[in-house]
Parts: sequence; C-alpha cells; structure tokens
Amino acid sequence: MAKKDPVCFCFEVYKEELVEIIKKHKTKTVEEIQKYCQASMGCGSCRSDIEQIIEDELGKS
Ligand code: FES
Repeated sequence: MAKKDPVCFCFEVYKEELVEIIKKHKTKTVEEIQKYCQASMGCGSCRSDIEQIIEDELGKS
C-alpha cells in the first residue's frame, strides 16, 4: 500500500495521515485513532486496513 493511498473512502483519510497519527500519538487501536480523525466511523469497511497499518507501524518501532 502506497503512502498516498486512500484508506477510508467515507472520510477521505489517507495512509500517510494514519501513519502520522500512529507515530505521534502511539495509538494501538482503531478507537484511539478515531480521537484524531474520522477514519472507520462511516461504513466501517476500512477497519481491517487500518488495523493492518497499525500492526505494520508498531512492528517497525
Ligand atoms: S471507508 Fe472508512 S468508514 Fe467507510
């Protein structure tokens, strides 16, 4: 998945933005991410993608 790929189509949230939130706020769950953006608060179909991004980012640190 490229950085510029949209992850959440409902709220136009891009991977780049999610990665930044995860790094900056050390978020480990989708619920925590929702404090900073609206990703996955619509249809919810992006949820598993967000979980994957969290996993990838936490695995890097
Ligand atoms: S695509 Fe993210 S809530 Fe619908």
